[in-house]
Amino acid sequence: MKAGVGLFSALALFLLMGAVFTQRVRPKKPTRRPATTRKPAVPKPAVPRPAVPRPAVPKPAVPAEPQEPTDFPPVILGPPSMYPDCPRECLCSPSYPNSLNCENRNIRAIPVVPSRTHYLYLQNNYISEVTAEPFVNATEVRWINLANNRIHRIDKQVFEKIPSLLYLYVHRNQLKEVPSGLPASLEQLRLSKNRISKIPAGAFNKMGNLTLLDLYHNQLSDSGLGKNSFKDLKSLMQLNLAHNTLKKMPDGVPGSLIQLFLDRNRIDDIPKDYFKDFAHLAFVRLNYNQLSDKGVPKAVFNISSLLDLQLAHNQLASIPLFNGHLEHLHLNHNSIESINGTLICPYSLQADLSDYTLAPRLRYLRLDGNHLSPPIPLDVIMCFRHLHSIVI
Ligand SMILES: *[C@@H]1O[C@H](CO)[C@@H](O)[C@H](O)[C@H]1NC(C)=O
Ligand SMILES: *[C@@H]1O[C@H](CO)[C@@H](O)[C@H](O)[C@H]1NC(C)=O
Ligand SMILES: *[C@@H]1O[C@H](CO)[C@@H](O)[C@H](O)[C@H]1NC(C)=O
Ligand SMILES: *[C@@H]1O[C@H](CO)[C@@H](O)[C@H](O)[C@H]1NC(C)=O
Repeated sequence: MKAGVGLFSALALFLLMGAVFTQRVRPKKPTRRPATTRKPAVPKPAVPRPAVPRPAVPKPAVPAEPQEPTDFPPVILGPPSMYPDCPRECLCSPSYPNSLNCENRNIRAIPVVPSRTHYLYLQNNYISEVTAEPFVNATEVRWINLANNRIHRIDKQVFEKIPSLLYLYVHRNQLKEVPSGLPASLEQLRLSKNRISKIPAGAFNKMGNLTLLDLYHNQLSDSGLGKNSFKDLKSLMQLNLAHNTLKKMPDGVPGSLIQLFLDRNRIDDIPKDYFKDFAHLAFVRLNYNQLSDKGVPKAVFNISSLLDLQLAHNQLASIPLFNGHLEHLHLNHNSIESINGTLICPYSLQADLSDYTLAPRLRYLRLDGNHLSPPIPLDVIMCFRHLHSIVI
């Protein structure tokens, strides 16, 4: 019992770590700020201020593009600030002198960032480019949230002056490539929902501290990934490549990985030894691909660290073998016609399974949307004694 509880708490820990784990159920809100204990919760002004008309806008630090669209709503100015260096379109709270809040203000260009800024919030605006000028004195920035803008270009030089940047969120923009020159200090990089079709060679080298890389919902193909793109990411724990156009499993994924999400691609084949070097891999998602029995070697998912395996919406006709440690298995919407508990039981049914702690840890099994009908075969129940939910 103890081991089971231990694993369960490991799972719970993951849920707490925020993680992409909940992503399909509850899509990440672009407005959400990086989660951390040091998160400065900046209070909203008590009285809602009416939007100030455009003429009051200070000249942007970066020259406006000649063809700047004029149909954007007017910039919303922040309240008067005690800080002379506070940009007019932002909020500088005396309680959080290291935060610069410029989100939801219809701004087109990044204002000059004060040197005291550690946390920079620029999400939900109309910013189209990230250039070096606004950051010239902002050498202490740790987090930048640029989600949900119109960014199509990030200058290489921007990050040369920000050597301690930890989190960079640029999801929901218009990037076509992974930006180059990202700092080696980075721990989280979110680039989902852009138009990225290419990872330039060396884009991620030197980034040995990166733990989270989110490239969900882009236009990456096998050739766009490049051969050794991920190889230097020695601390990587979460890789999300779901919703792209991959046909093959990504190459050179580091062995430190805990979560690998590849849902909604076109993968039809997994090399036999693909998972052999992953010692910590616990969550694998391959929902909505083109996997059939032919492309799934018999024991490829027999990975002892794996807790959660999702293979829904593929074309599997039989249940792949899995390890006794697996807790959640999603096989719904495949072409499975029969289930033989003796064959899929990770241990021999003759072994002494009366010791509850030794029984396979599978707790949740989804098999709906296949060609199966109840009842659940007796040998399945005999083998999987921890199973408390099975959906047929
Ligand atoms: C950067 O800091 C220097 C020295 O404090 C100051 O003279 C300069 O005006 C600042 N530049 C910007 C763009 O704020
Ligand atoms: C990576 O993290 C370690 C430990 O926190 C730190 O000492 C090191 O400076 C970081 N590397 C970079 C390039 O920031
Ligand atoms: C699955 O892996 C375990 C080690 O975790 C090994 O003992 C067992 O033989 C493997 N089963 C198959 C069918 O490869
Ligand atoms: C399940 O597989 C075992 C081992 O291959 C076989 O002996 C048994 O007859 C199968 N059970 C059913 C119901 O097909």
